[in-house]
Amino acid sequence: MRAVVIKEGSLALEERPDPVPTGAELLVRVEAAGLNGADLLQRAGHYPPPPGVPADVPGLECAGTVVAAGPEARRKVGDRVMAIVPGAAQAELCLVEDAVAMSVPDSLSLLEAGGFPETFTTAHDALFTQCGLAPGERLLVTGAAGGVGVAAVQLARLKGAEVVASVRRPELRRALAELGAKAVAPAQEATAGPYDVVLELVGAADFPAHLAALSTGGRICFIGVAGSGPKTELDARQLMGKRAVVRGSTLRARTVAEKAAAARALEADTALPLAEGRLKVIVSDSYALEECERAYGRFAEGGKLGKIVLLPGASR
Ligand SMILES: NC(=O)c1ccc[n+]([C@@H]2O[C@H](COP(=O)([O-])OP(=O)(O)OC[C@H]3O[C@@H](n4cnc5c(N)ncnc54)[C@H](OP(=O)(O)O)[C@@H]3O)[C@@H](O)[C@H]2O)c1
Repeated sequence: MRAVVIKEGSLALEERPDPVPTGAELLVRVEAAGLNGADLLQRAGHYPPPPGVPADVPGLECAGTVVAAGPEARRKVGDRVMAIVPGAAQAELCLVEDAVAMSVPDSLSLLEAGGFPETFTTAHDALFTQCGLAPGERLLVTGAAGGVGVAAVQLARLKGAEVVASVRRPELRRALAELGAKAVAPAQEATAGPYDVVLELVGAADFPAHLAALSTGGRICFIGVAGSGPKTELDARQLMGKRAVVRGSTLRARTVAEKAAAARALEADTALPLAEGRLKVIVSDSYALEECERAYGRFAEGGKLGKIVLLPGASR
């Protein structure tokens, strides 16, 4: 199979041996694999994958067709699946844990499905499992025009929450408003409070302002810090006075059982809305595997709405 390979900070396409599924693994012929910030970090040598995963083949999510299955897997050859994986998704073939895989609904193309698992699982887990976002509550999503943000805004609206989407590029605010959010510039976030939940996708710099804008009993969940960094100051009196909760979460290092639980919770809330077109996977740009450098460049440039997706099947 051909795979995207990281070589001293650059990307190349290389032939690698086809993976062989064992136990409850599925071998998936990848049609689409979404890009994520973690891939750019891994390329720069800052985010090694967990043990047992090829360190030089990036990719945290994929969608495609099952072409072989281990003896303990329930899914069959020919099934359309999408899944988060600990790495190595940006290749023509990828191993996926059966328990973590989700069925691709007929309403979703495999291109769209390749951009679904990582960002929708992250957003769903953070909003509902970590923060218990409830109907009628008020949510702030920072960095809302990216992959996780676009997922979070839609998931929260479906739940019946009121959503404020912080978007730094004026030209992208209308799209967030069309997805059901009140779209504001980052500087307007604090005055647009109070918030019951803040989904922090940019970093820790605005934590004091967000804590000040939090309702009593409010929750802040840190998911990404690439935009404004990981460090901040905490006024513990404000935290106490508001009975606030500050959480943080990552997906990649979780056990298969934990990832499977997150996948089942996501499927339960999204299967019908996806089928009915009430939930959309927004793919800004897609690239053939040969164009991986361009795809990574586009991701790094910023200003996209939703996802960038690689298409290993485009040149087969
Ligand atoms: N914890 C986890 O398990 C997990 C899982 C997935 C993602 N993440 C992290 O969560 C973050 C969001 O992921 P994503 O997939 O949505 O990334 P993304 O698609 O790159 O979106 C990031 C968004 O944040 C905006 N942004 C970046 N720096 C900013 C700043 N200083 N001020 C205001 N806005 C800023 C970007 O705007 P521009 O387009 O203008 O640059 C973009 O709209 C990333 O850091 C990612 O690594 C964590």
